Amino acid sequence: MEKSLIYFDNAATAWPKPESVYRFMDEFYRSHGVNPGRSGYDLAIETGELLDRLRKRMTKFFGGDEDASDRLVFGYNVTDALNLIIPGLISAGDHIVTTNLEHNSVIRPVNHLVRDHGAQATFVPFNAGGFIDPDDIARALRPNTRVVIVNHGSNVIGTVQPVAEMGRICREHGVTFVVDTAQTAGIVPINMKEMNIDVVAFTGHKALMGSMGIGGLCIRKHVEVKRTRSGGTGVRSINPYHLDEYPWRLEYGTPNMVGVAALWAGQDWLEENGIENVHAREIKLARKLVAGLRQIESVRLYCCDSLENHLSTILMNIEGMDPGDVGVMLDVDYNIATRTGLHCAPLVHTQLGTMEGDGGVRFSIGAFNTEAEVDAAIAAVTEIARWAQKRASRFDAVLPLMAPKSQ
Ligand SMILES: Cc1ncc(COP(=O)(O)O)c(C=O)c1O
Repeated sequence: MEKSLIYFDNAATAWPKPESVYRFMDEFYRSHGVNPGRSGYDLAIETGELLDRLRKRMTKFFGGDEDASDRLVFGYNVTDALNLIIPGLISAGDHIVTTNLEHNSVIRPVNHLVRDHGAQATFVPFNAGGFIDPDDIARALRPNTRVVIVNHGSNVIGTVQPVAEMGRICREHGVTFVVDTAQTAGIVPINMKEMNIDVVAFTGHKALMGSMGIGGLCIRKHVEVKRTRSGGTGVRSINPYHLDEYPWRLEYGTPNMVGVAALWAGQDWLEENGIENVHAREIKLARKLVAGLRQIESVRLYCCDSLENHLSTILMNIEGMDPGDVGVMLDVDYNIATRTGLHCAPLVHTQLGTMEGDGGVRFSIGAFNTEAEVDAAIAAVTEIARWAQKRASRFDAVLPLMAPKSQ
């Protein structure tokens, strides 16, 4: 499958997935492709078993309340999950503290609540290293602050935030703490109880090694969430209103059982490989990439001086070049896939000063990248930077000739 493509877009989605994940998705859907929780025959019950076992397994994985695994609810992805939890926690007049590191899947729901429903919001900036200072979160709290929402790992600059410290502050102030783990779940250990996280929002298709089309929330027992949607649940059909009990309170319609199978197999793969080992391997490659890119004079790197508390996601630019052009050259000339532009996180680029130049070039290393691929990326950027320099010096030579002659 696309053998020669060098894929450095794992922050968009981890790819490829482990073989065992593809196999289990296929096998499970063939053998158990019936609707769970709707009917009483054995196969439907067995299918529902996997869903319930996955709730328990992922509740444990996130360090949630194991005696309340029905509060591990599934949706389509983390965007869907955040669109359930943000309005589910916030009412008119409530204040939200969030950060400049957020993805649009937080920025936009928050902004809609502010513009359309009378909520208030504060966006806390990050420091020069790309980290949010927990004291800045504390300073942003107001008497009406209801929730703090933080992106655990930046999808643009790769920094991993000190969520345990933020959780402690939220707990002290009685504020609900929500963490977007899109980039960290499966790569950074998360323990909700130890880190005082009240709600984890996750997506299945990145480092959790599941598939697209599944994500969800893990909600601690003490958190009250308003229901904002309604529909079929497969149980108590006579009820004219949606059920209040979990998981139905936040689940609607037929679940994505192929995604459930994928997440299950992804959990197996993570257990076999160990998330610390996967992370250590990726960070080793990221260090190699950063060291190589640093040798190129016209390359500018962002927030990766040290790769402590960092994902293997590296943002760079080549002086004088549009990041989109660099991405096209990497793709067309070198068969290297990166993501360029604003990465759905415009506030990061505004703060870095890269908004004007149309963002940056993001290399995101995944579990299946190799040293040879990193070497190829460094060589490619070296050549592109050299080409850009030559082009600039040719322009420098030609421009004076084009200047209007003085009369
Ligand atoms: C930090 C963060 N939040 C949210 C998302 C949205 O993820 P999804 O498209 O799976 O909903 C992403 C995707 O890149 C992300 O990196």
